[in-house]
Amino acid sequence: MTESLIVPYQTMFCILDYRIVSHFTEACISLGVFDHLAMGSLPISELAKRTGTHERSLHRCLRGLSHFELFNIEPNHRCPSLSTISLTDVSQHLVTNSKFSLRAWHTFCQLAQSKAHEQRRNLWAQLLRTGQSIYQLGRGQLFYDYLRERQELAAAFDQAMASMSKVEIHNILQNFDFSRSTHLTEIAGGNGTLITGILQQYPDIRGQLFDFPDVIGRVVSQSRLEAIATNIYTALPNIPGDGILKRILHSYADEQAHTILKNVKNAMHPGNKLYIFELIEDYQVRNPYVGIKNLQMLLVHGAPGASGGPGERTQTEFTTLLDKAGFELVNTQSLQSIDVIVAIYPE
Ligand SMILES: C[S@@+](CC[C@H](N)C(=O)[O-])C[C@H]1O[C@@H](n2cnc3c(N)ncnc32)[C@H](O)[C@@H]1O
Repeated sequence: MTESLIVPYQTMFCILDYRIVSHFTEACISLGVFDHLAMGSLPISELAKRTGTHERSLHRCLRGLSHFELFNIEPNHRCPSLSTISLTDVSQHLVTNSKFSLRAWHTFCQLAQSKAHEQRRNLWAQLLRTGQSIYQLGRGQLFYDYLRERQELAAAFDQAMASMSKVEIHNILQNFDFSRSTHLTEIAGGNGTLITGILQQYPDIRGQLFDFPDVIGRVVSQSRLEAIATNIYTALPNIPGDGILKRILHSYADEQAHTILKNVKNAMHPGNKLYIFELIEDYQVRNPYVGIKNLQMLLVHGAPGASGGPGERTQTEFTTLLDKAGFELVNTQSLQSIDVIVAIYPE
């Protein structure tokens, strides 16, 4: 694996959220993941069986932790259950009986921590056993339902997303040309930071913004932008030009992402483009930012469905997803802070 270069805002993001790496690592220790791999590599299905975990949840977790040199993954694209997992020089130190084991240090840290920490740790292990998200386990709700009932938190989430978008939008506007578009629709665009930035740079483009009703209710109205309340999981209003999806598909399992893409396609017109701004995962490149994003999606959305996601996807996974929904992937591009996948609705 080669070392990847991540931009400073991503490094800062990783520092703020690094606890997610520690908590998932602790959960894997308590479930025996490292000890079961001590004798050699195992297919993910067998590892899940031996550790009593939910296979897809464990797989997403190990994909995330592999970016921190804890696991090597030999992917099997045809049958993800047969992807092979092995330990690394780093994670050998977490095996109980290894020569230079650090498990005694880990045990001391656990004993020294509070009861509240222990309860939280148990919840993370439960997430890996059940495939449910931390919101389902701790609060009995899906993430967006939980937010909707707490409008102050929901508004803070809009702002948090907008703050994460700043560098991305800067990169998108510097490197990406929308001049051929007459209409642009940002699907699930939160408070509209991206579409607003694009409209400011391109005075001839008209825009639409879709999101949940409460999110749309908080959007500041502006000329050339129509903000429309809708649930993209059910149906979408007409999309007259090109569409944009930024950081949406990674929070959905493949089956759900497929439904969303089909809805988007039904609302679009042949010949138009769909720009998907997400991170493209590459098994050959260790990237802590991609690792943390993977773990974050697992934490917040769990691992519903029977196939891939939520989490960051490889180019092959994007191609399969788009193909199934009737889009054709025409191009991918890396823009420092985010990647873009350009798909077309074939004529
Ligand atoms: C992770 S945020 C990303 C926001 C924005 N695209 C960005 O990149 O900053 C996800 C957004 O998708 C919206 N969203 C998620 N599922 C949705 C659905 N089923 N229908 C409408 N909006 C949805 C959320 O309300 C939220 O604003």
